[in-house]
This record gives sequence, C-alpha cells and structure tokens, in this order.
Amino acid sequence: MIETLTHLSEQQREIQQVARDFATERLTPNAGAWDRVSEQPASIVRELGDLGFLGMLLPEEYGGLGLDSLSYLIALEEIAAGDASTAVAMSVHNSLPTEMILAFGSEAQKTTFLPKMATGEWLGAFALSEPEAGSDASAVSTQAVRDGDSWVLNGTKAWVTNGNRAQVILAMVRTDTPGNRRGSRGISAFIITPDLPGFHVGKKEDKMGLRASPTVQLSFDGLRVPADRLLGAEGQGFVYAMQSLEAGRLGIAAQAVGIAKAALEHAIKYTRQRHQFGKPLTEFQAVEFKLADMATRLHASRAMLHTTAAAKDRGENVGAHAAMSKLFASETAMWVTTQAIQLFGGYGYVTDYPVERLFRDAKVTEIYEGSSEIQRIVIGRAVTAS
Ligand code: CAA
Repeated sequence: MIETLTHLSEQQREIQQVARDFATERLTPNAGAWDRVSEQPASIVRELGDLGFLGMLLPEEYGGLGLDSLSYLIALEEIAAGDASTAVAMSVHNSLPTEMILAFGSEAQKTTFLPKMATGEWLGAFALSEPEAGSDASAVSTQAVRDGDSWVLNGTKAWVTNGNRAQVILAMVRTDTPGNRRGSRGISAFIITPDLPGFHVGKKEDKMGLRASPTVQLSFDGLRVPADRLLGAEGQGFVYAMQSLEAGRLGIAAQAVGIAKAALEHAIKYTRQRHQFGKPLTEFQAVEFKLADMATRLHASRAMLHTTAAAKDRGENVGAHAAMSKLFASETAMWVTTQAIQLFGGYGYVTDYPVERLFRDAKVTEIYEGSSEIQRIVIGRAVTAS
C-alpha cells in the first residue's frame, strides 16, 4: 500500500471521499452493464446534481458550491475511476457551458440558466466541432444571420457530448458575412435550447469507448435564436471557447487520471491473487516493475494536474500547463491501461474483467478537447514564444 500524500485540505479530502463513495456504490458496479447497452439511467445526472457535482465551480448565488478547481478535479478523478462515461458528462457540463455563461454571460443569462444547471435539472453541452472542422476549430461553417430581434442558424455540429439530453448548448457559429470573412474573429457563441424551432438531434455515434456517454450530431435548420441568447460580444466566440477549453482540458486530464487509477487498482488486485509457476504474479520482478512504472506515471500525471489546478486557483495563466496536463495524463491513461491488459493476459482481452473497457475509454482522452497533437501545438507555441 502506497502512502497518500497530504497536500489536500480537510475539505478537499471530504469531497474526495463523497465522490469515491458515490463511485463505489453507484458507478463501478454498473459501468460494465452501461457500456454493453450503450446507455446509463437518466437518474445519474440528477444524482450528480444532488451531490452538488454539477455546480462545483459556480458561486453559491447561482446555486453552486463555489469550490476551487482542485476540489472539482479531485471529485472528477473519483467519478472517472468509477465510470469514465459519467465523468465526461460531468466534465463537459462543469468546465465548458456553465463556466462560459458564468465568465461571459449577462446577469439575465446567469440567473436564467446557472441555477438549474447547478442542480442537474438542465444538463449542458458544448458545440464547437463540425464534420469538416475538428482540430482546425476556427474553420467552422455553421452560419448565423441576423433577422430582426433574432438570429437564424444553419449548419451541423459534430461530436457533441450530452447533445441529445442537454437543455443548454453553447454553440460557436459564424456571424461574419460571406463578403467579409474574419477568421476566428467572425465566430460568436450562442446559448441554444432544444425547444427552439429548427433544432434537431442527428446521428448518435457508435463509439469504441465511453459507450454510455451519448455523442451526437446536432443540426440547425433555420434555427431561430432570440438575440438575447448571444453570449458576450459578437465575434468573440472562438476566444471564449479557447479560454474555456483550458479548464476543459484539466477536466479531461482528471478523467484520464481516474481511468489510469482504476486500471492500476485492478492490476494490483489481479496480480496479487493470480498464481503462475507456483507463486503470485506480484512475486515476479517483471510484474512488480511494470506496476511500479504504472504507479509512477500515474503519480506524475496527478501531480502535474494538481499543481496546474492550484496555479489556476491562484489566478495564474495556465494555458500551456493545462495542455501539458491533458497531454501527459491522457497518454499515461493509454499506457497504463495497455500495461494492465498485458498483466491480465488473456483475461485482459475479454469482457470478464473491466480493463478492456478502461483501455477503450482511455483512447478518446488523447483525441477530444484537443488531440495530443493540438496540445503539443499549444505547448510548443508557448515554449518557443519570446
Ligand atoms: N485564450 C484566449 N485567446 C485565445 C486562446 C486562449 N487560450 N487561444 C487562442 N486565442 C485567440 C488568439 O489570441 C487569436 O486572437 P487574435 O485573432 O487576436 O490574434 C485567436 O484566438 C486565434 O488563435 P490562433 O491563431 O491560435 O488560432 P488557430 O486557428 O491557430 O488555432 C488551435 C489554434 C490551438 C489549433 C485551436 O484551433 C484548437 O485548440 N483546436 C482544437 C479544438 C478543440 O480542442 N476542440 C475540442 C472540441 S470540444 C470536444 O472535444 C467535444 C466534447 O464534447 C468533449
């Protein structure tokens, strides 16, 4: 048993324990079944809301817990260790739409949306990517045209986590005109609700992992959005999205740390009880060394994440550090889950044990909210800037 380090406050430890208990009781026992049917009960979102986990970063005046980023990310790690699908719903909701409304919304938008988002009555989603605009996010083509006191939107958004069950969707769309394209400065953010005419949920993706988390396309077909649903200033949507993704990437790093933690715990338990050649696997140094490397990389990922979160809470600029945290944690999750499967041998390759699901779940952490290659671009630009 490795000693737990003590840099967390008493309150942070309590939050960690609440999240761990919820994960142990509600998520870990069900995650395999939810993965198999590609669905989880709708009640899970409300249960997260009842625990306060959908408004962790929101001030109390908007119904949130008013906590720091580190507390939120500690809870998110525990939720991810129980079920990575639940974790991505929690991460996207907290880090992106709620934080965007809090940071850039009008007072009316905050009071309309945030209290219900804090309880989980309204789940949030983030719609940036499109079928032809993924890593190159400023190439989005969904177009908004002003018409009286509303905007009319046409286009398709892709890879939208929570998109078919969200009541509040932050969508980045073009508000510049074909005759005056302004690149990333021609994009604005809108608060979309599914009751608006012209809103359609499209294809639900059939994914390798995170199968209990819905990922859908959304199509806007003459979607009429009242002008007061524009978030912040016209033309600032790309910058708002990029700023919010810094927090989002810390959330995905926490999710990756949780996946790696779960894989390591399963691997330790299995290699202790599995005997070959007359002794437990843990008595083979090849196995012990592998576990040591897994534990070390996990610790490094968590340490980087916590250091970055603490710096963010002090108000420091952590854009490149958030990218490093996501890059390192997601590649660690992929590596640790791969090693876990190797330690389980054939049993790791079949669905009798959870490590194959953890391996499938880990992969997308290297892809979404900016692929590992995009994180390297962000880090590389910071490293080489004068
Ligand atoms: N904060 C503030 N402003 C920022 C910023 C940030 N973090 N990043 C960029 N900007 C500003 C720049 O300063 C620049 O402003 P000016 O026009 O005044 O110069 C403007 O935004 C354009 O920036 P870049 O020139 O850097 O833009 P780029 O086209 O080179 O793209 C990129 C940069 C880093 C590659 C960016 O496109 C990117 O992050 N791509 C990945 C997109 C992504 O992460 N998508 C995830 C979608 S969400 C998801 O995964 C689904 C889900 O539900 C989980």
